[in-house]
Amino acid sequence: MTTASTDDEKIFARRESEARSYCRSFPALFTKAEGATLTSAAGKKYIDFLAGCSSLNYGHNDPDMKAALMEHIAGDGLAHGLDMFTDAKAAFLETFERLILKPRGMDHRLMFTGPTGTNAMEAALKLARKVTGRNNVIAFTNGFHGVSLGALAATGNGYHRGGASVSLPDVTRIPYDGFLGERVDSCDLLERMIAEPSSGIDTPAAIVLETVQGEGGLNVASAEWVRQVEKIARAHGALFIIDDIQAGCGRTGSFFSFEGMGVSPDLITMAKSLSGFGLPMAVLLVKPEFDVFGPAEHNGTFRGNNHAFVTARVALEKFWADDAFQKEIAERSAYLAKRLEAISALLPTASVKGRDMMQGVNVGTGQLASEICARCFDKGLVIETSGAHDEVVKVGSGHDAGRRCRHRTAGKRDLRALLRQGPRHRDLRRP
Ligand SMILES: Cc1ncc(COP(=O)(O)O)c(C=O)c1O
Repeated sequence: MTTASTDDEKIFARRESEARSYCRSFPALFTKAEGATLTSAAGKKYIDFLAGCSSLNYGHNDPDMKAALMEHIAGDGLAHGLDMFTDAKAAFLETFERLILKPRGMDHRLMFTGPTGTNAMEAALKLARKVTGRNNVIAFTNGFHGVSLGALAATGNGYHRGGASVSLPDVTRIPYDGFLGERVDSCDLLERMIAEPSSGIDTPAAIVLETVQGEGGLNVASAEWVRQVEKIARAHGALFIIDDIQAGCGRTGSFFSFEGMGVSPDLITMAKSLSGFGLPMAVLLVKPEFDVFGPAEHNGTFRGNNHAFVTARVALEKFWADDAFQKEIAERSAYLAKRLEAISALLPTASVKGRDMMQGVNVGTGQLASEICARCFDKGLVIETSGAHDEVVKVGSGHDAGRRCRHRTAGKRDLRALLRQGPRHRDLRRP
């Protein structure tokens, strides 16, 4: 294994917080990145299936984004602009309006929040509560919306919730599509629980969902289910929020993950691949009638990353001006599905999950998934797990590697042998 050199390792162990995570699973010292390839200090090349946790949907160091950014810096363009008017922000907004909003008939406004996904989620939840004057928000099992306290309350993951050490109030959890098996439609439950005055659930300010649960294990909601949720939200005066932080920007085939579903979310959160270049940038898309925060009421110093505006504009112009990129995603998704099916066939109990470029293999246990990822890393592939039990080996992301690395043995056993080891992985058999 190509690890960080001893001296480098020492500085990380000595000075970097124990909260560090991905570096534990991928203990190489990375020095270069281009396209889908990472290079370590030792010169070893890795294929990057983690993709900055879906923040690098267009690859590392895209040459056109890089050139535009370098030109902007060389010309003393603003780096940081609070939320003042700048040429870079104007160009981004104009491009987003022209290439994304207008063709989709959307009149949403863009609220620039702090630069991470969780910041956009905080803004969304707070805004929905302000609009409706209600406290409660409905979120779904296995949903992941970030780890700052407001967003964490909507996140299902027990490990992350445990890190809060305070109560995480004002969110009611309802089973996600398929959580209770194929025969149970959780929308029936949702509808009844909201409609019944004595169900114990307060009428919600908002209902928030991911169309594909990335961290939750690549659970895919059907279009029909998403439509039903929207209908229920509308019937009860709740805002309908789609968290597209991970599933957006092409990861599920189109710019928004809900395209073609026939829904019109009131609020949409975006971050991760929005800047295109891996630079921090997040927005909350808001229907004009809900754009009710007063000036600076939801403030933040880092809402004007002009470097990100530059690269985000180029990403839109390069990938979303026509449908060539979407066609390419469709082709790659089909290829990915085919290859994952072949891998999954190595293990009788495994199955392919997800859709488009958000797919992976459920291998049944976190232990096995973790060993597979460790073996992949030895072989030069950076890939992570997701799911309630970390049981899915996932293409495109993985968020809480630190917890899982305790499973890691970085063993040298052959992967096929590992997969065929029946007795050791007895617990793979589902009831
Ligand atoms: C769907 C979703 N929402 C919110 C977040 C939080 O984003 P961030 O880690 O940038 O705060 C994530 C991160 O993985 C996510 O996948």
